[in-house]
Amino acid sequence: MPSLRDLMAKIDIVDVISSYIELKRVGNNYTARCPFHPDDTPSFYVSPSKGIFKCFGCGVGGDAVKFVSLYENVDYWTALQRLAERYRIPIRIEKGGKEDKLFTALRRVAEFYHEELKSSRQALDYLQSRGISMKTALKFMLGYGGDTSALVELLKREGLLEVYERTANITGVEKGIYRDLFKGRLIVPIRDMSGRVVAFGGRSLDGSPPKYINSPESEVFKKGKSLFGLYEAKDYIRESGEVLLVEGYFDLISLWQEGFRNVLAPLGTALTQEQAQLISKLAKRVILLYDGDKAGRKAVRSAVPHLLMAGLEVRVVYLPEGEDPDTFVRKNPAELKRLIATALPVQQELIKRIKEGDTSCMEELLYYAGFIKDSVERFQILKELSHITHIPLSSLNERVPKVEPRREKQEQSLSYHEVLLLAGLYRFGFEEVKLEELRLSPYALELVEAIQRGEYHLLPDYIKNYRTYDLERAFRESIRALSLHEEELPRNFQELRLKSKERPRKLRKR
Ligand code: UTP
Ligand code: MN
Repeated sequence: MPSLRDLMAKIDIVDVISSYIELKRVGNNYTARCPFHPDDTPSFYVSPSKGIFKCFGCGVGGDAVKFVSLYENVDYWTALQRLAERYRIPIRIEKGGKEDKLFTALRRVAEFYHEELKSSRQALDYLQSRGISMKTALKFMLGYGGDTSALVELLKREGLLEVYERTANITGVEKGIYRDLFKGRLIVPIRDMSGRVVAFGGRSLDGSPPKYINSPESEVFKKGKSLFGLYEAKDYIRESGEVLLVEGYFDLISLWQEGFRNVLAPLGTALTQEQAQLISKLAKRVILLYDGDKAGRKAVRSAVPHLLMAGLEVRVVYLPEGEDPDTFVRKNPAELKRLIATALPVQQELIKRIKEGDTSCMEELLYYAGFIKDSVERFQILKELSHITHIPLSSLNERVPKVEPRREKQEQSLSYHEVLLLAGLYRFGFEEVKLEELRLSPYALELVEAIQRGEYHLLPDYIKNYRTYDLERAFRESIRALSLHEEELPRNFQELRLKSKERPRKLRKR
């Protein structure tokens, strides 16, 4: 069997690439307009002697296999197989263990959904109404949860049904009958860094709740450790050293379509320390693109500490009220570009505002200072602040939160309000809860979604048996506390009593 190197030696990169796009010879190299970003001048180069391509506009580059994988939007191994077939070079593909089979199943399901999209009027109309082109749909392998029995048939035929059931994306309800979590939804596959599909997000097309459903966690998918867009964005991120961080699937997809490519999004939860660590391996700077309203500011405050602790430089772009990156980039991409380019590191931005007389920023700056990884940098910020405010360094130091080294156990723990939320959802249902307005940890979201699916066995017993004097009221308060849109929390019991005077109608118990 030939090795990978033998295979690569037999493949002529010019031959491969020119079968996709037109190349022009310039000296020893070839050039073209880059197929991976809007390119007015030919910034795309191919070097036959080195066997690589490189775009000096957007930064992508690599070997022939990489080109095929990007162009055909498949992972590296699939691209390799396709090239091997085309050049009739036999390579042995390890038909490996269980995990490989699970990835194969997930890929086949994503492909199936993607095919279904092409024949779903409703899904196509929806994409069109949101201004998503077919090219973008192809890039992200968007799909539609159509015919469940055809999907089950396909998996059966390929011997993948049993392994696929382990993801709990489909569940057997009776003999031979399956329920697909994503039925009737627009599907966004979530891929890991090497392009393997690990999970799906599914958006409601007709407004029926919940707005999004995500795959349950599985052996290949952990919500707090994955980031949407990793595979699509990683080369652009490495090249620019910078990540644009947004909150939603569609924010990322729209930004991509408009040419902003170094974008990542967490999966509907607050950013975690693991995600921040992952980002810090690829980039040195993160720019948060969040709403300028209260919700956005709350979200920023929860994300920034993790990013600083990971040693990243953090900048924040607040979008105008009522806009998210998706809506804003469509209206004014040039303005967005400008906002990104002119944002300052968050510490400097706050210093600047304090200098301008806005002392309300002090608390925020002192709070963030506690998370700055580099102690010299932290010291310098505090010194500068002391200089501006004439407050002695030692007093400032006292007000900097002492940050414990990161707690590993965080993953499976719930906050007080998350526990009450879950206990309440379990007892009273979802009737009055707007999930997208809550900020939850990955573990909490996982359990919320389990309740939504009716899989109560996944809930820890202490939540099912949660007893408190007035659960209904505690539930409401916790929804408030977790809500991104909520005004300040009542600070003491009296305030709480005053607030709950305006009490809405009783909830039904189930
Ligand atoms: P948003 O509601 O802000 O999402 O939730 P969005 O992307 O702007 O949605 P549309 O499609 O444009 O209306 C932000 C993210 O929170 C997660 C999803 O990842 C979503 O992209 N989410 C939201 C859920 O997981 N479940 C929900 O019910 C809602
Ligand atoms: Mn949106």
